[in-house]
Amino acid sequence: ETPSNYFFTTHKNVQQIYRPRKRFDHKGKFGNLLIVGGSKGMIGAVQLATKAGLRAGAGKTTALVPACGYEIIQATIPEAMCISDPSRNHIVASTLVSKYSAIGIGPGIGQHEQTQKAVRSIIEDAEKPIVLDADALNMLSKNEEWWSLLPKNSILTPHVGEFERLAGIQFINSFDRLEAASKMAQDCEVIVVLKGANTAICLPNGQIHFNSTGNAGLAKGGSGDALLGIISSLLAQKYKPYEAAILGVYLHGKAGDYASAEKGFESMVASDVIENLGKAFF
Ligand code: APR
Ligand code: MG
Repeated sequence: ETPSNYFFTTHKNVQQIYRPRKRFDHKGKFGNLLIVGGSKGMIGAVQLATKAGLRAGAGKTTALVPACGYEIIQATIPEAMCISDPSRNHIVASTLVSKYSAIGIGPGIGQHEQTQKAVRSIIEDAEKPIVLDADALNMLSKNEEWWSLLPKNSILTPHVGEFERLAGIQFINSFDRLEAASKMAQDCEVIVVLKGANTAICLPNGQIHFNSTGNAGLAKGGSGDALLGIISSLLAQKYKPYEAAILGVYLHGKAGDYASAEKGFESMVASDVIENLGKAFF
């Protein structure tokens, strides 16, 4: 039998990753999650990521948003804490990031020059694997030198367009694209979650894990934001980065399958996915 680097994530596989809660567990055990994102007109993205972070089990969840998002987060997510950036419409300042057990950056964050400086300093100060999505990935594409700052085993969650910007190449052949994602994971020692139908999770050791859950109802604005919240929440709960990526993608798709059964492919929205996360956990 030829050894293969390809794996197909089944229910059984993720069940082995999952750690059920124990009777006397307390919130301190489940980590302190920070979600960084939002800009004028895109507060919904960070809102979804924060809600997903809570629903995926983080002990404490805080959102860092521009001032225009502060009341929105506080009024709509009573379980979350919120830090307001000094600037109104986009993030310009970092915060004390070392006190958080996991950080997810990018939903709706935009690419303002000052925001790039703030994101750079968060990456620099993080000292532990972080999760990057959306415009945080686009910033990484533009700033070659950030690669050396990224903590080992950080998780990148690009869709095809974002991945191609990161790689600096457009692929015609999807197998070539997958190979490039795996090479990036190995060369840069990061986890590349290449999103789409059957999301591929590329690990630094060369393994590629294909997800088995999810449906085309997830092809709608906001689904990716929910995924960022879920993966970073699992990271906050001390799942290893590769476990957080594999389990997170699986749960996100599974919750999407419950959402589609309830609402239908056309009508389901990211909030429905988040609402169904509870059922997706074993
Ligand atoms: N089958 C299964 N899963 C799917 C399918 C499909 N056909 N289509 C999409 N998905 C899943 C992906 O695997 C991923 O987890 O839905 C999610 C979509 O994530 P994104 O592509 O990031 O979409 P979105 O949430 O709309 O991103 C919002 O951020 O990344 C930027 O430019 C992007 O403006 C966009 C915004
Ligand atoms: Mg996205």
